[in-house]
Amino acid sequence: MAEELKFPKGFLWGAATAAHQVEGDNYNNWSVWEKENAERLARQAKTLWQPWQQKQFPEMFDPQNYISGRAANHYHLFEKDFDIAQSLGHNAHRFSLEWSRIEPERGKFDEKEIKHYRSVLKALRERNIRPFVTLWHWTSPVWVVEQGGWENEKTVKDFERYVTKIVQSFSTEEIPVWMPVNEPGTFIGMGYVQGMFPPNVKNVFRANKSFKHLMDAHRRAYSIIHEHHAKAEVGLSHYATCVQPYRNGPVNRLAVWGLDYIRNWRFLDSVKDDVDFIGIQYYHRDVIDVVPRGGKWGFFDVKNPNDWVNDLNWDMYPEGIYQILKRTARYKKPIYITESGLADRDDRKRWEFIRRNLYWIHRAMSEGVDIRGYFHWSLLDNFEWDKGFWPRFGLVAVDFKTDERHIRPSARHYKQVCETNTLIP
Ligand code: BGC
Repeated sequence: MAEELKFPKGFLWGAATAAHQVEGDNYNNWSVWEKENAERLARQAKTLWQPWQQKQFPEMFDPQNYISGRAANHYHLFEKDFDIAQSLGHNAHRFSLEWSRIEPERGKFDEKEIKHYRSVLKALRERNIRPFVTLWHWTSPVWVVEQGGWENEKTVKDFERYVTKIVQSFSTEEIPVWMPVNEPGTFIGMGYVQGMFPPNVKNVFRANKSFKHLMDAHRRAYSIIHEHHAKAEVGLSHYATCVQPYRNGPVNRLAVWGLDYIRNWRFLDSVKDDVDFIGIQYYHRDVIDVVPRGGKWGFFDVKNPNDWVNDLNWDMYPEGIYQILKRTARYKKPIYITESGLADRDDRKRWEFIRRNLYWIHRAMSEGVDIRGYFHWSLLDNFEWDKGFWPRFGLVAVDFKTDERHIRPSARHYKQVCETNTLIP
């Protein structure tokens, strides 16, 4: 039998969620967008997904699939969900506060919602689960988007006011770890480059403006949090993709170099001095080929070998996390894996994916990379943005009609690791 791999004492093990994806009954820019786009998304499923996916997930043709609605009803069931997390050996949990609940009108805060999140934090503490709190996970109050969202400099000021309210409302004991913004890169890429998320444009100029403002927002939040909570840890979460060339020519190598920089390092380079830790979120790799007459991404085509894919047809490549982690080490900051996961409704690949990722994470650690925790995405099946409900990411399956929860077998394998700090490769 292969040798056991030991993780250090105090290593954090858990799972992550985001408000809009699990809470239910949110009113924000996404909930509005969903209603306007559900019919279109259901129609487009025919062209977007492979025949095997269409066959296995016919709910993708139903417009209701694209409406977050009650989601996993986690807003009301959080205690029950945290009981499950505790029973699965988790000692940490990442989740997000919903700005639109807390500040439904500009400058008017809803104390009831602050109280709600206080109960959420208390529930975690009572179960000895350390909270990692994201302040903005892609959704904004409708009034923010009406003023131009992150394209408008005013939003940075508004975000500062929201962050100030939160830091004044909670103690460091309640929120020991803060993550102001989730994956700015994905937000910009999906919303302003691929045009799939709101505001659905392909506009580099607007992309850059939003990116700059998000960075400013992160930096301001970093200072505000530390002014009030000197001992808190403040970091960011960053989507990293392993980018590889399909063919080994100079053009492909140059393209990989550029894409790798834009997707993986541009953001980290710009915030490296304003973070106490780096959160890496890793899901898949992209093998790219430059094609003369333009391909799927303009000049590029994605030619993943697809030997091992998840329900979304993403190319799963655990070794990629090792490469990303080794390179992230150059920032000399502690690293948490703040998300990593896969859509796998039938749970046939989840444990294998987790296991192999953990193997590579351990390998990076054994070579000196300072990694302190792993959060699987996600604790619960949830609302996967423009794809809706059919991709199932949960360690725990959710029946969205009855709210029933079922622990998937992979969650029990992961529990063994969480409880023993040991992986049997
Ligand atoms: C996001 C999550 C999302 C997950 C799976 C991450 O990029 O932070 O909100 O559900 O990926 O696509």
